[in-house]
Amino acid sequence: MSDLKPARILAIETSCDETACAIIENGRALLASTVASQMDIHARYGGVFPEVASRQHVLSIIPVVEQTLVQSNLTLKDVDALAVTRGPGLAGSLVVGMNMAKGLALGTGLPLIGVNHLEGHIYSSWIYNAGESVPAEPKFPLMALLVSGGHTELNLMTDHLTYQRLGSTLDDAAGEAFDKVARLLGLPFPGGPSIQKASENGNAKRFKFPRARLDNPYDFSFSGLKTAVLYEVQELKKNSKPLPIEDLAASFQAAVVDVLFNKTIKAAHEFGAKEILVAGGVSANRALREVFQSQKEFKVHIPAFSLCTDNAAMIAAAGYYRFVSGHVSGLEMDVQPTWPLS
Ligand code: KG4
Ligand code: ZN
Repeated sequence: MSDLKPARILAIETSCDETACAIIENGRALLASTVASQMDIHARYGGVFPEVASRQHVLSIIPVVEQTLVQSNLTLKDVDALAVTRGPGLAGSLVVGMNMAKGLALGTGLPLIGVNHLEGHIYSSWIYNAGESVPAEPKFPLMALLVSGGHTELNLMTDHLTYQRLGSTLDDAAGEAFDKVARLLGLPFPGGPSIQKASENGNAKRFKFPRARLDNPYDFSFSGLKTAVLYEVQELKKNSKPLPIEDLAASFQAAVVDVLFNKTIKAAHEFGAKEILVAGGVSANRALREVFQSQKEFKVHIPAFSLCTDNAAMIAAAGYYRFVSGHVSGLEMDVQPTWPLS
């Protein structure tokens, strides 16, 4: 895609437990972004409570959109198109954002673009803050590792909006494994940040947790690892030993990071990728970022911390590339789009 037309996109994201809105110019320059997190509410339940999430979105969506417009000093008249996450995600949560976006589209006549949440995560690496220096954009062919709470997969991107899925998880997603292991170690939700924190003072070599060997080397499996941590915990408890939480967390985190890093580098070599992109909530993990940033073979794009977990800026960025390539889904968009998209 060359000579892309200029456009401002206002996007809405409500696929899980964050109510978010953002405005992006030309797919990359972030003008304003608001994220109302429900994390504290769901932490009481030890995970996302879908019905509570939908109700919170209903309360937050209008203030979040208004705040984003105020922050940007723009009105809806200054926007060229609207984008909204249409899936995957919690149905009751998605519908709040989709109905808000449809209402805005009907009221303003602006085109409406349905964006796949996973594509949104991938496009978070194109974003920079408006007014700051413009970083180089990712170059194709690009090996994209997507690691979120619901998905773990490797996609080869040969161009904008063009994905070849090489492998994905056969059971738990990486973020889900962090959340489940945190729970069994008695650490608070969400598990990723808790495990990362506990790992800081832990010995990652103390426990030799397994790395799954699979027929397709680009598939992932984390349930065996999770079970290995469970057995270790049960064994220690049976012998009335105090749980070495920090060492267990660090050894678990090291196993996940090791698998994600090695598979991505191997795939990048095999498929002739020029660069690597890491996206999704787990890309906020410090150990994962460090291992990718310390290798010198490939340039690696990892979003700023604030763009790793769910936000609307990434939906606006992906929405822009969909918009300029003529993919406008309008009011009739389906809730659960297929993935990878073409
Ligand atoms: O992308 P995301 O915000 O939501 C989904 O699309 O699923 O990802 C959320 C996931 C959770 O499982 C959370 O535990 C994990 O990302 N996560 C992390 C970290 N921060 C968030 N995992 C490991 N280390 C982190 N620092
Ligand atoms: Zn996400």
